[in-house]
Amino acid sequence: MIELKNLTKIYDQAKENLCVLDDVSLTFPRGKFTVLLGPSGSGKSTLLNLIAMLDKPTSGKIFFDGKELTAMRSETARSKVRLHKMGFVFQFDGLLPEFSLLENVNMPAVMRGENKPEKGQKLLSSLGLGKISHKLPADLSGGEKQRASIARALRNQPSLLLADEPTGNLDAARKIQIFQEFATLSKEQGLTILMVTHDAHAADYADCVFTLRNHKLVQLK
Ligand SMILES: Nc1ncnc2c1ncn2[C@@H]1O[C@H](COP(=O)(O)OP(=O)(O)O)[C@@H](O)[C@H]1O
Ligand SMILES: [Mg+2]
Repeated sequence: MIELKNLTKIYDQAKENLCVLDDVSLTFPRGKFTVLLGPSGSGKSTLLNLIAMLDKPTSGKIFFDGKELTAMRSETARSKVRLHKMGFVFQFDGLLPEFSLLENVNMPAVMRGENKPEKGQKLLSSLGLGKISHKLPADLSGGEKQRASIARALRNQPSLLLADEPTGNLDAARKIQIFQEFATLSKEQGLTILMVTHDAHAADYADCVFTLRNHKLVQLK
């Protein structure tokens, strides 16, 4: 599903070069919920950004469904893969304040030229937000907004969900809800999920767990 081959990322910083990923080779399994743990600054977001093609590795290759992402030269082609194949959830929900939940969730489909609002409604219902889909983000709790951002990430039926600290600003109970939701999505729909977090509790809900140690990925589960 996602295969990293000799992946190295070195940032050019003012005083010296900073090596964040050092010759990492591994495969994240298809249809599983994988959690990537590690303290702040260990390189978790760097890895996610490389997979999302928002940044380029110093060397090495990334394959997604057999296709080499690191060989894609055109931004148009990269955007297309992101829009059609990948869903994104971040720490801050990123919902547009002037649009209802339903409009927010349908936004990625509208960007593809698809206009089937009932699909967004169905997704919101499946995440327990069906009755409040007309509300604006400002009228919702943090947990509700985060679930709406998951619905939005799923709207184009991606095969890969990338989540960067999606529970970073939620309380313990809300966090567990999101972890459970991800576990269910991978089990019931075969969605491949890669979630980055520094919350070790997430490991209990995941199929596979990795951590970043000395610029290498180490498998814990
Ligand atoms: N664009 C950049 N330029 C230079 N250094 C960066 C850049 N992005 C991240 N870093 C550095 O790389 C390291 C890893 O960052 P990051 O991947 O954001 O870690 P994490 O997500 O695990 O907190 C940090 O030391 C950070 O300061
Ligand atoms: Mg980060």
